[in-house]
Amino acid sequence: MIKRGKLQILCFAFLGLFGISLADASACQLQQLPAEEYIKRMERPDRVVKVNEVIAKLRLKPGDIVADIGSGSGTFSVPMAKAVAPNGILYAVDIDEKMLDYIAERAKKEGITNLRTVLGEYDDPKLPEKGVDVAFFHRVLHMIEHRQIYVNATAKYLKPDGRIVNIDKNREDSANWMWLNQSDVDNWMAAISFYPAEKFGVFDDRYFVSYQRPYGNSVLLKKREPIRD
Ligand SMILES: C[S@@+](CC[C@H](N)C(=O)[O-])C[C@H]1O[C@@H](n2cnc3c(N)ncnc32)[C@H](O)[C@@H]1O
Repeated sequence: MIKRGKLQILCFAFLGLFGISLADASACQLQQLPAEEYIKRMERPDRVVKVNEVIAKLRLKPGDIVADIGSGSGTFSVPMAKAVAPNGILYAVDIDEKMLDYIAERAKKEGITNLRTVLGEYDDPKLPEKGVDVAFFHRVLHMIEHRQIYVNATAKYLKPDGRIVNIDKNREDSANWMWLNQSDVDNWMAAISFYPAEKFGVFDDRYFVSYQRPYGNSVLLKKREPIRD
């Protein structure tokens, strides 16, 4: 079996052979680092994540079912589990078991009992239920190879008025080729009838958009202030 790192190098070599630039390289599962490296990066004291502001904007409440997809070291999973306790559930989803072990240990140390770890697949979060209120992605969707397939799979686990929330960075706002333009994400979401319901200006360098279907208690169906960037 070819390991992911090797697969990525082969993929880039292939692209180079045919003169395809890295900016077009979304065909590769991107920059998957070893768990130890991610944990070090995610836990940097100077990392700007604004967890409390994000949770407040999402209006998470006790009883909600939330999936933190690509949960990494648990930066969002742990406080989100607290926000939905005692009867809500936080599913921390990752493709790297070591990350999940790290989060489980962290939750145990903090006495959190409503956090469940889920080993996802590259194209499917493999959630154990279909009543999810919020599927949350922070700096993850740009790493997933088949974004349209992944959002399609995610939507199947949501309640009719469930939300898919994505925080990522536009390519033109960064020297790094890996990021995703919000307009592309809007298109993938529109293909499954999810539309931008709320946009939050929490970050200077990232967009933060909540998508919903116009259904049930969707914000899209309520009288509200116009969405803003
Ligand atoms: C840049 S880290 C972000 C971690 C976390 N969301 C945060 O912001 O602190 C990306 C995480 O996504 C995970 N990941 C990458 N591809 C994935 C996929 N297809 N499904 C689920 N998780 C994935 C990686 O293992 C890693 O833990």
